[in-house]
Amino acid sequence: MKIQSIIKMKFIPFALLFCMFFIHRSNSQERTVITLKKDWKFLKGNDEMAFQKNFDDSDWQTVTVPHDWAIYGPFDKEVDKQQVAIVQNNENVASEKTGRTGALPYIGQGWYRNKFKIPQYKEGQKVLLLFEGAMSEPKVFVNGEKVGEWAYGYSYFYFDVTDQVIVDEVNTLAVQLTNVESSSRWYPGAGLYRNVRIIVKNKESIDQWGTFITTPSITPEMAKVNIKTKVSGDNLHLATHILNAKGDTLVTDVSLLKFGNEFDQNIAVPNPKLWSPETPYRYTAISQLYANDVLKDEVTTRFGIREIKYEPETGFSLNGTVRKFKGVCLHHDLGPIGTAINTSALRRQLRILKDMGCDAIRSSHNMPSLEQVELCDEMGFMFLAESFDEWAKPKVENGYNRFFEEYAEKDIVNLVHATRNHPSIVMWSAGNEVPDQWGSIGAKRAKWLQEIFHREDPTRPVTVGMDQVKNSMESGFGAVLDIPGLNYRLPLYEEAYEKFPQGFILGSETASTVSSRGIYKFPVVEGKMKQYDDFQSSSYDLEACSWSNIPDEDFVWQDDKPWVIGEFVWTGFDYLGEPTPYDEMWPSRSSYFGINDLAGLPKDRYYLYRSRWNTKDETLHILPHWNWEGREGETTPVFVYTSYDSAELFVNGESMGIQKKHDATPQNRYRLMWMDVKYEPGSIKVIAFDKDGKSVAEKEIFTAGKPYRIVLEPDRTVLDANGEDLAFVTVSVIDKDGNECPTAAQQLNFKVKGKGKYRAACNGDPTSLEMFHNPTMKLFSGKLVVLVESTNEVGQMELSVTGKGLKGNKVILSSK
Ligand code: GAL
Repeated sequence: MKIQSIIKMKFIPFALLFCMFFIHRSNSQERTVITLKKDWKFLKGNDEMAFQKNFDDSDWQTVTVPHDWAIYGPFDKEVDKQQVAIVQNNENVASEKTGRTGALPYIGQGWYRNKFKIPQYKEGQKVLLLFEGAMSEPKVFVNGEKVGEWAYGYSYFYFDVTDQVIVDEVNTLAVQLTNVESSSRWYPGAGLYRNVRIIVKNKESIDQWGTFITTPSITPEMAKVNIKTKVSGDNLHLATHILNAKGDTLVTDVSLLKFGNEFDQNIAVPNPKLWSPETPYRYTAISQLYANDVLKDEVTTRFGIREIKYEPETGFSLNGTVRKFKGVCLHHDLGPIGTAINTSALRRQLRILKDMGCDAIRSSHNMPSLEQVELCDEMGFMFLAESFDEWAKPKVENGYNRFFEEYAEKDIVNLVHATRNHPSIVMWSAGNEVPDQWGSIGAKRAKWLQEIFHREDPTRPVTVGMDQVKNSMESGFGAVLDIPGLNYRLPLYEEAYEKFPQGFILGSETASTVSSRGIYKFPVVEGKMKQYDDFQSSSYDLEACSWSNIPDEDFVWQDDKPWVIGEFVWTGFDYLGEPTPYDEMWPSRSSYFGINDLAGLPKDRYYLYRSRWNTKDETLHILPHWNWEGREGETTPVFVYTSYDSAELFVNGESMGIQKKHDATPQNRYRLMWMDVKYEPGSIKVIAFDKDGKSVAEKEIFTAGKPYRIVLEPDRTVLDANGEDLAFVTVSVIDKDGNECPTAAQQLNFKVKGKGKYRAACNGDPTSLEMFHNPTMKLFSGKLVVLVESTNEVGQMELSVTGKGLKGNKVILSSK
């Protein structure tokens, strides 16, 4: 029998029972959350008086928040030029690093001011001001009075501003932000780049992030859901309703008993549907707080029921099934829109990664946006939520080391409290390659931080990404951790497994292979830190850093050793800053590490990972492109990344033989390679075979003629008319016969008409100095992406793209 609704009753007053069934269906008015998005005033620079309530900001720029003040550029070699030896990269001599933090103007001070009212406010209520991230060192003023400050730009934090707000009047919020030089190893962005919210609630209410849901026992028949709820006020009762994904109430539990300021409920959910990347099923808990039988607060929390285990030898299991993380590391910037958080940009990234078969994300090396973990819950990704890139010992002079002693605990507490109900989060990380790994103090710090995580969340283990693996064996650092995370260092995997007590290791950071989309270098040989005159890296995927390796070498360990519990590839997408191996070469200003480029366009490597990670769909991908005018007769190897075991290659109909995956080298195991092919224009075709030698799939690419026409491919055609939804339109150029022109580099122009706006463009070239927000850009390797943004008005919008000597094109999108 299907149980629709179970009520666990101790003693429930009739009035309360009545409320439980009816009130939670309505949109509760007990608390109000106002997101301050519009009509912010912004000034880049310092004005000492700007904190004042009646300060005249009328000539400041009007912006919407989330906002990244630095992404509008210009790129400038001088911005945050760092004279350093990057010790993590094995450098001993300092040299000038130009694009390390993206060469965008994030340094300096910025002020934001916003006028807001709280019409819903009733006498005696509380007002909180919540920041989901502010880059960085925010100082916050309400009506001219300082209400608080924070330090780390990635933290979530809030202040109680009840005493500073004035009811029935316009209130003034002013935020001062400061970014100093040498405070980051990548582009951190600048400003109020995540949401700012005002929460108005009753004195008797659920504390901020006061709900903690865990699922300590799960059987096919029943899951025990434990809900701890921290509250303020007297004479309280808590009614918790559990709803299924359709919104039906499954169970209601009423608790009258508080332990200190906490309710502690155990609720049975029958026949639980388990959360996993493949089945991201979520339940909803509605917590209703009553004082003297009157409803005072209501909080809705989505959660999942799932079991995680990390065990010696077998490694990681989710819901009883052993699996390995097929993960990627991500920085927080979203390419052409910078760090300003945007849900449709995040969703697009995850869609691309999902198709690749990726099932896990590591938020390197800081707290993720709340939007990102929410999407991971919904779309099915496991999440490794990281906190710091530095502890007390610096990597960059003005990094987090300045704040560690005062803030580390507070930052961890807020990270855990704000995100712990997300089923996607399966592990915390206390740090990345922290120089504190050296010496005994490091192990003590690791233990201290780990215990803070455990205290706040006893259900998830903690890792640290280690690069000083040998040293951490001796110092005890690695032994302290719940999960020893190794960054690169494949030759030490075996020894780490033996010496560390945990019985498994994690590839917390892998590969750091470098490539530029659509660029191929000859001769095709494996190499470390290779540099070329055009400051690009080869897409034959054989180039890595001195400390890192090509993907295939990770695959060997992942496939052969049960005690390696998965990998997080550096990185899923290119990001602004850290242009290794061109750290000293201007104008390189963004990374080469991405499996996808800065525009989100897949590089060849995407298909290499897809061929093993996506086990549902076939992958058959040929590289390089076949437009090599001037290389006629020269050796031009052809690689095929495929889910099939073997394939035959044809050049202009002539067989180049059959290749089969085999064990001679890691590359031979995971790629099909024809090393001696001589280039001649025409076509290359590959026919793939199944295990019985039957031909099952084929792919052919042709030498393209002259660029003729522009082609537009939007990722979505219907947007939300909310002023922030984005369509990503891939722009490419084809010849008269419809073949993509892989080397096209024309300057294109963009225009958006109707109920939409041109937002940005990106071509994925790590050396381009064209600004993203200008409506013109050159194609890079025949492609770029244009971002069209909805307005608040419903209707149609038209993007037109033109370029000299090319037939232009248009696409119509709509919003509702
Ligand atoms: C790692 C580091 C990352 C990034 C990467 C580049 O050592 O953790 O943040 O710098 O190297 O290969």
